[in-house]
Amino acid sequence: MGQVSTDTTNPEVHSGLTTDWPQLPASQQPTWQDPAELAQALSVLAAYPPLVFAGECDLLRTRMAAVSQGKAFALQGGDCAETLAEVTGPNIRERIKTILQMAVVLTYGAGMPIVKVGRMAGQFAKPRSSDTETRDGQTLPAYRGDMVNGFAFTPESRRHNPDRLLRAYHASSATLNLVRGFTTGGFADLRSVHAWNKGFIKGPAQARYEQMAHEIDRAVRFLEASGVADAEEMRRVEFFSAHEALVLDYERPLVRRDHRTGLLYDTSSHFLWIGERTRELDGAHIDFVSRVHNPIGVKLGPTADRDTVLRLIDKVDPDRVPGRLTFITRMGAATIQEVLPGLLTSLGEDARHVSWICDPMHGNTFTTSSNHKTRRFEDVVEEVRGFFAAHLEAGTHPGGIHVELTGNDVTECVGGTSEVNLDNLGLRYETLCDPRLNHQQSLELAFLVAEMLDRGVY
Ligand code: PEP
Ligand code: CO
Repeated sequence: MGQVSTDTTNPEVHSGLTTDWPQLPASQQPTWQDPAELAQALSVLAAYPPLVFAGECDLLRTRMAAVSQGKAFALQGGDCAETLAEVTGPNIRERIKTILQMAVVLTYGAGMPIVKVGRMAGQFAKPRSSDTETRDGQTLPAYRGDMVNGFAFTPESRRHNPDRLLRAYHASSATLNLVRGFTTGGFADLRSVHAWNKGFIKGPAQARYEQMAHEIDRAVRFLEASGVADAEEMRRVEFFSAHEALVLDYERPLVRRDHRTGLLYDTSSHFLWIGERTRELDGAHIDFVSRVHNPIGVKLGPTADRDTVLRLIDKVDPDRVPGRLTFITRMGAATIQEVLPGLLTSLGEDARHVSWICDPMHGNTFTTSSNHKTRRFEDVVEEVRGFFAAHLEAGTHPGGIHVELTGNDVTECVGGTSEVNLDNLGLRYETLCDPRLNHQQSLELAFLVAEMLDRGVY
């Protein structure tokens, strides 16, 4: 995961405790019941080693600067909500394989460097539209992600439990450890592109991938035979982590000061984003990210206007640092064409130094009569097309995609060449939160996006 050039391991350098931060309104926060229990968890978290290093965050910022200039394309993908029970070797491996496959499809198809970012190793908290959930006359706190409470519908499980902050830290640490192993230890070797396709069901996207892997093999053999391929370089890939900076009692204790520069970094992840529901200009979340030097994302829904976006830029990126700020638009397939070109154009030069990424998932969710939350693959693709078209119209760069996916063969989103439809969604519906693209749908999306990037035809 990039170079390590900084010592951020000394917890003395920043206490990380909540008392250090300004008292601003913070929405979507847990309501912990026992202050002593919370204080104990926060002090343990503040003393733990950082999960990532400042130098790695800086490296990602330079990669995102290339994205903002149209010289690279970002692929952010992973679970809507990670769960502690799903932090297993096979789950992490299948997700990494899926993202690596998508990245290879995009690199090969579009001839562009792909900045690979997993929505993982920290994505354990969710914003909710309601604080409570009622089932059969019983009302309990809503599930807010495994970092806060449990999914099981019992009073004990739904209690907001500060010990879960520590469990989320350990699960993130274990995840990152395996991700680092996979991406630097030979598993991600470009000479293994075929192997990443093994173990998945054989659909049209997998067959197309197999064909492309043959071509890549030939190209790699040619480069090796010509003596120009660097075997060490082919063995490793750069891979970064990201999650929504939502629960401030998790993020704040993990802030550390970088000894080289004296600057603060949130060492819970390389990239952090602020969600659509917590991006209030005068709220604690935007204030928090404005104080740390990680590359930062902010989600923008269909109602985001020019004034709000300009004020977000001034708060989070007042110095206009290349690679610092990314807007992740999630407008909905039907709305993006109406809203995004005008917004981009109205921002003028200010739209050009930030990066723009398309989240084609969160504006396209609906609930079926069988009470499953789902998304149509066709809507996802349509939103990405609208995103490319909007940037073409405004003269800005379409910088990447941000998707909810799993390497497993689930039935959560409908459509594409997969067999998933509204009638068989229940077969393998496993998400505790939003519906994810399965392996086949993820690969298929990568092929379609590669074509859009390559041909400029949407
Ligand atoms: C998410 O990314 O899972 C999410 C909740 O997104 P948004 O903030 O865009 O609704
Ligand atoms: Co989601």
